[in-house]
Amino acid sequence: MAALVTANESSDQRDWPGPPEALAAFHRRMPAYSPTLLLDAPDLAERLGVGRILIKAETRRMGLPSFKILGASWATYGAICDHLGEEPEPWRNINELAAKLAHLKPFALATATDGNHGRAVAFMARLLGFDAHIFVPAGMSPARVRAMEAEGATVTVVAGDYDDAVARSAEEASDHCLVVSDTSWDGYEKIPAQVIEGYATIFAEVDEAIDASGLDHPDMVVVPMGVGAFMAAAVTHYRSGENRPTIVGVEPLDANCVQASATAGKITHVPGPHRSIMVGLNCGRPSMIAWPRLVSGVDWFVSVDDEGARHAMRDLADAAVVSGETGAASLAGLEAILADPRGKAALPDPEDRTVLIIVTEGATDPVAYEEIVGRTHDSIGRVLTAIA
Ligand SMILES: Cc1ncc(COP(=O)(O)O)c(C=O)c1O
Repeated sequence: MAALVTANESSDQRDWPGPPEALAAFHRRMPAYSPTLLLDAPDLAERLGVGRILIKAETRRMGLPSFKILGASWATYGAICDHLGEEPEPWRNINELAAKLAHLKPFALATATDGNHGRAVAFMARLLGFDAHIFVPAGMSPARVRAMEAEGATVTVVAGDYDDAVARSAEEASDHCLVVSDTSWDGYEKIPAQVIEGYATIFAEVDEAIDASGLDHPDMVVVPMGVGAFMAAAVTHYRSGENRPTIVGVEPLDANCVQASATAGKITHVPGPHRSIMVGLNCGRPSMIAWPRLVSGVDWFVSVDDEGARHAMRDLADAAVVSGETGAASLAGLEAILADPRGKAALPDPEDRTVLIIVTEGATDPVAYEEIVGRTHDSIGRVLTAIA
């Protein structure tokens, strides 16, 4: 596997304010909400020479195959509250919320996506009885497009890459359409900030599971990065409070915009085409609002090639975790940093340490999954020890 490992010379470990208290209660009102599993992977830990590897498996979240619904749901709600000028309380479940919003119709949600965020926005639109307009870069796999269409979304393929799709989606904003983007640009910051807030639920669940089981909190946390919104949530969580693990961000080698920006000391565009199979990470520019947290809180940047991702998918399958290409990036990144002579300094005495990796998606493209892993995703059982 080819990889590039760099230390972040600018990290200052500053504290960041956490999400609003209302977040946890909001997610609990979403349909099929329950904490995802935190798994213990002893065989993988032994093979990598690490004391313990914990896997937060975001492979099925509220019925969708990725974590993105946590940010998309909270940000959609925030955008609707802003649009109404008040919170549509009281409501106890999504059907009651949809009934309170029925007077807005015809109404739509729009976004650009490289797959998972768009599917989550389309899912929210369907639950609320709204339309969804989703803009995707050229070359997106038919399986991912079909998954969004199955949620009732109108999917438009934009000639160009993810950044072009973002620009196109921004044109949809109107009195009858809210743009719910997970990346930010000048003048469009509040909604993507709420997307970041929404992801905090993952880390709160990890803490609860670890506290309930009496295990050690992680010494290292490995997180995949596209525009860096998810990592911004990780930094927010792990740069406040007592447990301050080493934070490692992972990107594809040819779309390593966060690593390139950190090296340059400013937001830097990594031009496409971005052709990695880790499609959720094929982004050419970090999110403007995520960037200050990334540069302050991430300790190591790692970029990996597709071979690393394929290998990690197979390793995760052996450990009974069904991970898509993007979801496997964190394990590929962990393997890369441990194999790097300088990167090893990130985890001294590894055999005494606990590493948390976030597997951010399941088999979002089942056909590709079977080709890479050699087994169908539904033939893989979960035999690891769930600690929560
Ligand atoms: C499965 C998955 N993991 C990680 C990411 C990266 O998240 P972000 O773009 O917030 O860095 C994405 C983004 O689409 C994704 O779909």
